[in-house]
Amino acid sequence: MKKVIKNGTIVTATDTYQADILIENGKICMIGSQIEVDGAEEIDATGNYVFPGGIDPHTHLEMPFGGTVSRDDFETGTIAAAFGGTTTVIDFCLTNKGEPIANAIQTWHDKSKDKAVIDYSFHLMIGEINENVLNELPTVIEEEGITSFKVFMAYKNVLQADDETLFRTLVTAKELGALVMVHAENGDVIDYLTKKALAEGHTDPVYHALTRPPEVEGEATGRAAQLTGLANSQLYVVHVSCAEAVEKITEARNKGIDVWGETCPQYLALDISDLEKPDFEGAKYVWSPPLREKHHQEALWSALKNGQLQTLGSDQCSFDFKGQKDLGKGNFTKIPNGGPTIEDRVSILFSEGVNKDRITLNQFVDIMSTRNAKLFGLFPLKGTIAVGSDADIVIFDPHVERVISAETHHMAVDYNAFEGMEITGEPITVMSRGEFVIKNKQFVGKLGSGKYLKRAKYGELKNVVTES
Ligand code: URP
Ligand code: ZN
Ligand code: ZN
Repeated sequence: MKKVIKNGTIVTATDTYQADILIENGKICMIGSQIEVDGAEEIDATGNYVFPGGIDPHTHLEMPFGGTVSRDDFETGTIAAAFGGTTTVIDFCLTNKGEPIANAIQTWHDKSKDKAVIDYSFHLMIGEINENVLNELPTVIEEEGITSFKVFMAYKNVLQADDETLFRTLVTAKELGALVMVHAENGDVIDYLTKKALAEGHTDPVYHALTRPPEVEGEATGRAAQLTGLANSQLYVVHVSCAEAVEKITEARNKGIDVWGETCPQYLALDISDLEKPDFEGAKYVWSPPLREKHHQEALWSALKNGQLQTLGSDQCSFDFKGQKDLGKGNFTKIPNGGPTIEDRVSILFSEGVNKDRITLNQFVDIMSTRNAKLFGLFPLKGTIAVGSDADIVIFDPHVERVISAETHHMAVDYNAFEGMEITGEPITVMSRGEFVIKNKQFVGKLGSGKYLKRAKYGELKNVVTES
């Protein structure tokens, strides 16, 4: 059935204007004034913004970590994402050394296939480079459409790769047309500092942050950027949390090195004092990199404003406070790292960013959607409101005031890291390829309706095919 969104204000990464949108067969097929089509369902967007669905480039759904598994899976995670105005997620597919990459990718397909309610894709973790891996990577790109590789520079003895692996990944990615993503923290130094802290009897959650100071993130970011320049490759630094890392990204970009940076809502809205909350509550705020002193927040906002950082990912990796985070009682190194952020990513960026004049409305759309589509091979299929693009659309009320709470959120976890935060603006209706997923704030989607997206190679701004 055809649908017309009427009387809304369309917002893209470049324009803000009043127009109606005609949707047919899951695509935007006309944008114009006063569109009238017999038999089409009319959706009134008077007083609301109409923007492209958010693209979350950084999620960990049902991911094994620290002896447990992240709580939100492709069902609860994508439902919560849709409530929050996100219509595409790109999740990290973990690999195991010595095992075929194809098995890891199959595991991720099995986790997501009948569950996702919005479209999704995968990044591939690279933990080692050897003949087998090099033989498989062309298939990963050409057949699976996975065109981004992730290297962890931290989590020693678990996920961490060495510099040779990072450098060979950068060289290979350049040859094959993939974007290399890094978790940039110096894992060896963190290992030394955590052992020292524990030996001195420091076990509380705040020591998670004190043993991962900004310098270890700045150093790793600078190293990854320099290696990218040497390989003449391309790099995307995930979850940038501090001024030191922004400085290194800026320095590299000024030298012409192809480096991009992502931050996350937790670094914009929370700070290290949250880790000091009593009764072990600080564990709710354990992320890597850790929350920082408050002054880093303004450094991140101004980097988003002036383009030194370009995207916002959620880094969704949720664990219940009771039964998961409390694995680290008496030893902060055992607290599973990560938190529930997928649902509030878009709204926090709008409320704290646009409403507080830190970024413009068009920058907001670019940061939470369009730039991600461009960097990760989904543009112009996704990430914009244009004729021919998928009708992944959010109707957003910019005036509604609300308070974030675990009592009303849709994630599966027993707390919300932003509990009590007052924000303005909320998605009212969300469509994925022209079908309602959220209608008037109610979930009306279908499990398994989300499609796996094969993505274009890095730098190719061409359309891509969606596949089930
Ligand atoms: O603390 C975090 N960020 N947990 C998720 C895994 C990762 O490092 O991104
Ligand atoms: Zn990470
Ligand atoms: Zn992550």
